[in-house]
Amino acid sequence: MILKIIEKLTEETNLALTQLPWEIEGHPSTAPFQEEIAQAHAYPLAAGGKRIRPLLLSCMAGAIGGQIGIFTSRQAALAVETLHTYSLVHDDLPCMDNDDLRRGKPTTHIVYGEAKALLVGDGLLAHSFYLLSKINWAQKNFLPEVLESLSLAAAPKGIIWGQWLDLSLTGKEDTNWEMMETVHLYKTGVLLGACFEIGLMCGLSPLEANISPQQLTNLRNATRMAGQKIGLSFQIIDDILDSTQSSEHLGKTSGKDEHQKKFTAVKLLGLKKAKALAQQYTEQSLETLHKIFAQLNFNDVSQEKSQYKQCLFSTLTNLLT
Ligand code: IPE
Ligand code: IPE
Ligand code: MG
Ligand code: MG
Ligand code: MG
Repeated sequence: MILKIIEKLTEETNLALTQLPWEIEGHPSTAPFQEEIAQAHAYPLAAGGKRIRPLLLSCMAGAIGGQIGIFTSRQAALAVETLHTYSLVHDDLPCMDNDDLRRGKPTTHIVYGEAKALLVGDGLLAHSFYLLSKINWAQKNFLPEVLESLSLAAAPKGIIWGQWLDLSLTGKEDTNWEMMETVHLYKTGVLLGACFEIGLMCGLSPLEANISPQQLTNLRNATRMAGQKIGLSFQIIDDILDSTQSSEHLGKTSGKDEHQKKFTAVKLLGLKKAKALAQQYTEQSLETLHKIFAQLNFNDVSQEKSQYKQCLFSTLTNLLT
């Protein structure tokens, strides 16, 4: 049952991502370029991907707000995947990680050229905020809060800082684990933190009960922290996979970190310690989530909400395997 719900949510996300409206209306003389720009934006999204971020966001929303929470989360789920995909398009550029394989396909700059891939990334980033503006709020409207959350995650104090430090530390011999963990927190953790936080707000939207501003702040902070911990775990696993799996399996070039003289969890901690730390972060996150759900009176909930909660915990645990 749980697996079926996860599959259904992922299928819905995949379908909706292929239906995003990239078409441009214009003079017939520019028609070939109208087609090209639409295809280029659809390309990195259609290539696939695990869709972990939209899944976690929606499960969080469903665990708190049931089916209406899920409905409220739809556009937000697409927004975080669109933003994540932008970050991958730019991450793969020759001036960054210089990767030619992503999600099992040639990277966007291989197909459309570097300058146009840069524009596709910009386009996807901007469109993710457009998608947030289209959320169908239920009882309560948390648009300012979700805007704050996603924009901070994408901002210079978010992903950009992580990517900045990643570039700065590449090949720098005195890099230690504390420095690398900062890279992990910002390049990966903050977006997962935002996914949890936005999922919380989509889930709270249909609830009748009044939440004080202080309660909302506390819940947002706790949920974001839980998501960031998952992000830390997720990035350690990404480093492990890079050094242990094939390119075919990953759909991206494996062994790339070593080749590019990147410092990773595996390099700085060793495989065994890295695995143990990923597990520790996931456990800490699950503990926080249990506390959050208990606080929201989740001992007394519908079967529907409890199923989404199980989907959330099962997805988080499976990330480790
Ligand atoms: C890859 O993210 C980049 C990281 C932050 C580790 P994912 O592993 O979620 O990539 P996709 O979305 O499945 O392609
Ligand atoms: C990418 O980290 C993080 C962002 C795109 C923000 P990595 O460079 O480790 O991701 P992969 O391994 O290329 O997917
Ligand atoms: Mg990178
Ligand atoms: Mg990369
Ligand atoms: Mg990686």
